[in-house]
Amino acid sequence: MQQLISPLGQPQDDPQSLAALAAVYAYPDQVNHGRPWLRANMVSGLDGAARLEGLSEGLSGDADKRIFGVLRALSDVVLVGAETVRAEGYRPARARADFAAARAAAGQAPAPAIAVVTRSLGLDLTAPLFTEPVVRTVVITTEDSPAEARRAVAEVADVITAGVGSVDLPAAVAALAARGWTRQLTEGGPRLLGQLAGDGLLDELCLSLAPLLTGGDAPRILQGAQMPDVQRMRLVSLIEQKGFLFTRYLRPTDSAPTSP
Ligand SMILES: NC(=O)c1ccc[n+]([C@@H]2O[C@H](COP(=O)([O-])OP(=O)(O)OC[C@H]3O[C@@H](n4cnc5c(N)ncnc54)[C@H](OP(=O)(O)O)[C@@H]3O)[C@@H](O)[C@H]2O)c1
Repeated sequence: MQQLISPLGQPQDDPQSLAALAAVYAYPDQVNHGRPWLRANMVSGLDGAARLEGLSEGLSGDADKRIFGVLRALSDVVLVGAETVRAEGYRPARARADFAAARAAAGQAPAPAIAVVTRSLGLDLTAPLFTEPVVRTVVITTEDSPAEARRAVAEVADVITAGVGSVDLPAAVAALAARGWTRQLTEGGPRLLGQLAGDGLLDELCLSLAPLLTGGDAPRILQGAQMPDVQRMRLVSLIEQKGFLFTRYLRPTDSAPTSP
């Protein structure tokens, strides 16, 4: 048994600790050769709840938010389900000075794009996610989604269509990679993540375990059908801060990550 704990003693936003976190969470080299890597970042309580009073906010904390920010700053695109966008009032990812040089050197835009998966197209198009993005927001929908609503969305976002009835997620992930967005991050929610994992698309899970018991009937981080094959994951990093555990698990068949 190996103990992998590496406590983070640095104050919030200390550039050195941000750099250390960026090194811990570096995407593997394959992203530089056009092959996408899909990482999920989720938080749950000790008894498995993926939300508290309808939101993930109550499970989070300063250290979790810092890692959340670092994972976004390393990514090209953040894939998210429409219900999370609606529930959490998603805003555009921001360009952060701390990561500007590294992103420019890696040929990345100053901030990742947000890509929203939706069948209904029920999105608030007057929200900053559509009016003030650093990189134009992407909406991924079905070929048979409401045509008029799709035209309205296309005024303020890039629209990708994939699948009929429900979004074909392998095709959606491939379409994002075809834009050169190979450093992919998904922030759920649980219904989207359940499908991504079930489709065998998830390369990595970064799970923050909050030191909280909540009870109740909140979903777990994967919701939906039982996966056709149970997926074993390999722990590669474990960080503790203020009782939170920040885990990083990879699919065992994938090679260990190296610096981009
Ligand atoms: N613990 C965490 O880390 C975490 C992370 C994220 C969210 N959350 C919480 O989870 C809740 C929201 O998550 P959720 O699981 O209910 O919803 P979700 O996965 O965020 O979004 C579900 C919605 O995404 C769209 N969608 C998903 N798969 C689709 C497909 N294959 N084809 C077409 N559209 C698809 C549909 O949108 P339309 O209805 O528009 O068609 C669907 O209603 C919130 O309470 C949020 O706070 C927790």
